[in-house]
Amino acid sequence: MAVPKFHSLTIKSIRHPSNGSTALQFEIPEGLADTFLFDPGQYLTLRATIDGEDIRRSYSICSARNAGDLEVGIKQVPDGRFSNFARTLKIGDKVQVMSPQGRFTAPIGDRHNYLLIAAGSGITPCLSIAKSVLKEEPQSTLTLIYGNRSTKTVMFLDDINALKDRYTERLQMFHAFSREQSDIAFLNGRLNSTMIDNLCAKNLINLFDYDAAYICGPQDMTEELQAALLDLGMEKDQVNIELFGTHQSPKPVSANTIIGNGNIGVDVIVDGKRNSLLMDPREQTVLAAAQGAGLDLPFSCAGGMCCTCRCKIVEGKAAMDVNYSLQDWEIEAGFTLACQSRPTSKHLVLDFDAK
Ligand code: FES
Repeated sequence: MAVPKFHSLTIKSIRHPSNGSTALQFEIPEGLADTFLFDPGQYLTLRATIDGEDIRRSYSICSARNAGDLEVGIKQVPDGRFSNFARTLKIGDKVQVMSPQGRFTAPIGDRHNYLLIAAGSGITPCLSIAKSVLKEEPQSTLTLIYGNRSTKTVMFLDDINALKDRYTERLQMFHAFSREQSDIAFLNGRLNSTMIDNLCAKNLINLFDYDAAYICGPQDMTEELQAALLDLGMEKDQVNIELFGTHQSPKPVSANTIIGNGNIGVDVIVDGKRNSLLMDPREQTVLAAAQGAGLDLPFSCAGGMCCTCRCKIVEGKAAMDVNYSLQDWEIEAGFTLACQSRPTSKHLVLDFDAK
């Protein structure tokens, strides 16, 4: 796996898929066509210097794969530095864009029945999955359960309605609203496990019919619905989640676990080059220390969610403050997240080139 890099892409079109959101479509230069091939459900990291600061944010791709489109949906966040900056962008502007990343992806090319559950801007990866499956798999079917405050805040409502019109028999759609009357009484309120129970109890969905479920939204909703689907009989490897933000503050690795008095040597291998630095694990993560030393490591969320900073421990030990994205097998194989890692040995070597 090549270390992901930023490329300068030109904005080809801009639209506003709801009040308070922006969708940016990028031109893909011929030479970068392979670099920007993506699996539905992946995201792009956008980068800009805003008020003199290097700001990166990840936004999921909402286009169908193999359609020649590369579009991301950006929900405006009050005081959100990148989302407010995005509103100032114009067609023809250039933006630094990292090659597509992420594992919240659906296999395409066979016959599937997928359950997609999204809240708010969590629709973006689900929309890419829905568009790709419906377009490329003529036998496949989908159920989309989408939670919003009201019709006005639904992102990509026109896209969803167009899919519903075109694929009436293959796309089953449920809207849940927290500040507007839903068509189905028990879908009033924020998306929750009781709604899933009710949809099953009324035979509107049957969880045993689905090959996989994809849940995307805020952490509390995502984890509640993941637990509900598992309780109702889906297997762990069938239920995929993508967090759009966490409500938990990171818990730094316990001071008892950290050794040394501040001068821990860390070697970072990236693009075949070994870089050495000294760091204080009580004060910084490896990523923060590497940035301070002027190293350009791949990262995006810096919050343990996106996995862009994934690397392998090849010598020494490290512990993570939080981990929302690495799977158990990756941790067992020695992978860690640089944005969350603090050395717990006198010397640590991390390899970003490791597969
Ligand atoms: S940068 Fe996102 S998990 Fe580390």
